[in-house]
Amino acid sequence: MIEIDPNLNQYLEKHTNEEPDLLRELMIETHQATTQPHMASGHYQGRILSMISKLIQPKTILEIGTFTGYATLCLAEGLAENGKIITLDINDELKYIGEKYFERSPYKNQIEYRIGPASEQMKTIEKESLDLVFIDADKQTYPEYYECSIDLLRNGGVILMDNVLWYGKVYDENANDKRTVILRDLNERVVKDSRVESLILPVRDGITLIRKK
Ligand SMILES: C[S@@+](CC[C@H](N)C(=O)[O-])C[C@H]1O[C@@H](n2cnc3c(N)ncnc32)[C@H](O)[C@@H]1O
Repeated sequence: MIEIDPNLNQYLEKHTNEEPDLLRELMIETHQATTQPHMASGHYQGRILSMISKLIQPKTILEIGTFTGYATLCLAEGLAENGKIITLDINDELKYIGEKYFERSPYKNQIEYRIGPASEQMKTIEKESLDLVFIDADKQTYPEYYECSIDLLRNGGVILMDNVLWYGKVYDENANDKRTVILRDLNERVVKDSRVESLILPVRDGITLIRKK
């Protein structure tokens, strides 16, 4: 994550809508049951995802990388009536946590939780059927997720791509590990891609907001 002034962080959280109780509970369980709780979006980023989803009012959302389901529930807050969110994860070990909180949420009938490699699962989704995609899984496959998401999105649809600043390493010329290079190259490609409009939000580890033209 990009280091931000703790005072600024506190101020942002205090002047952003409160974290819903169910999500607060989910975050506590995520800390207790997992070794990498920071992977969950959390309060501030979660409210951003919720707000963007509410502005779009998507009929169909795809999330790549469920983890414990925190962002799934934030994104679901903006779903159109009878809309649905498909969330994908390769790991079934934390499925019991996501399922428990999905079941307790008002969106329980709108969440389709699939276990398996995302690239395989994405092949089963109809082209130009999605309104919003949240890319938040293995970084080495981001270029493939990006291309595939463009095909699956309708015109005017939106991609949110998380961790694009990669701890600030994408703009550190001395950082050249594999994931950093992949993300740096992808950021270059996205900003030059004539099929989309895009900007990077400096939120947590960086989120690219991309609109398919
Ligand atoms: C950063 S976490 C997702 C966090 C969640 N979106 C949130 O904001 O609360 C990344 C997740 O991607 C999953 N993942 C990694 N490789 C994957 C793959 N090839 N296909 C699907 N999911 C994968 C991991 O198991 C992990 O749960």
